Amino acid sequence: MRVADSIAETRTFVRSARSDGKSIGLVPTMGAFHEGHLSLMRRARADEDIVIVSLFVNPLQFGPSEDYQAYPRDFETDARLAQAEGVDLVFAPTVEEMYPREQLTSVQVAEISEGMCGEFRRGHFTGVATVCTKFFNIVQPDRAYFGEKDYQQLQVIRRMVQDLNLTVRVVGVPTLREADGLALSSRNRYLSPEERAVAPALQAALKAGAEAVRHGATGPQAEVVVAEALGEQPLFRLQYVKAVHPDTLEPAHWAGPPMVIAAAAHLGSTRLIDNIKIEA
Ligand code: PAJ
Repeated sequence: MRVADSIAETRTFVRSARSDGKSIGLVPTMGAFHEGHLSLMRRARADEDIVIVSLFVNPLQFGPSEDYQAYPRDFETDARLAQAEGVDLVFAPTVEEMYPREQLTSVQVAEISEGMCGEFRRGHFTGVATVCTKFFNIVQPDRAYFGEKDYQQLQVIRRMVQDLNLTVRVVGVPTLREADGLALSSRNRYLSPEERAVAPALQAALKAGAEAVRHGATGPQAEVVVAEALGEQPLFRLQYVKAVHPDTLEPAHWAGPPMVIAAAAHLGSTRLIDNIKIEA
């Protein structure tokens, strides 16, 4: 496995793979790998000749009061895990390499970025869309792999790719969970044992909402079901729960599927997100 910290070296690697006629898959990450990240790498490894993982904690997507400085960083462990998955190249640039000057240009995906997490993390998805555009231009992958765990992010990237006629194909990968239902996340390590014990209640509440939708509930009714279920958990503070259309993320005013119910909640100082898709 190669490790590159420069854009130039990554481009050289990509050019050579391309001239050999190889397919290239990109897995964008911020490191601190868990099985969820590894499942994206595995999927890419199965589909592609060449797998490139970008590892970059992107300052542009963190708000001033968020955990950019404290975000977990462990390059040695990550490199070992990526190597074990058969990754060909880890592109791990410095902030100076990615943003040598103030980034005056940004990619803003309106509307679809603005509700749900976008309402509470102003500018977050512009930071994500901008850095992913840069990665797509540096690596020029055939396909890029994103987790459904960050459902709004996945749909923002899909919409951006359509709107800007980017050639990359976006592949969504199902959320990997602990045995008790908790979605794997780099931030789970912040949970105290007491918080960890009740954390699966978020997915359980979303499941209750999904069950209501299967029985004909509307989006707003399903939101109430989720909020009430989570309300029984004193440690949780719900930030939002939204029932939306799976593609456009518009509020689901209709009854029954298709629908995605997504929620964010604080458990102590840790912010957890999760979602559930109810297919027609
Ligand atoms: P990060 O949080 O490191 O996540 C990298 C990828 O792993 C994302 O596509 C995310 O959806 C996926 N992922 C996280 N937890 C998962 C789980 N439990 N199951 C399946 N996939 C999971 O998301 C980002 O980084 C950044 O915003 C990024 C896209 C890299 C842009 O900076």
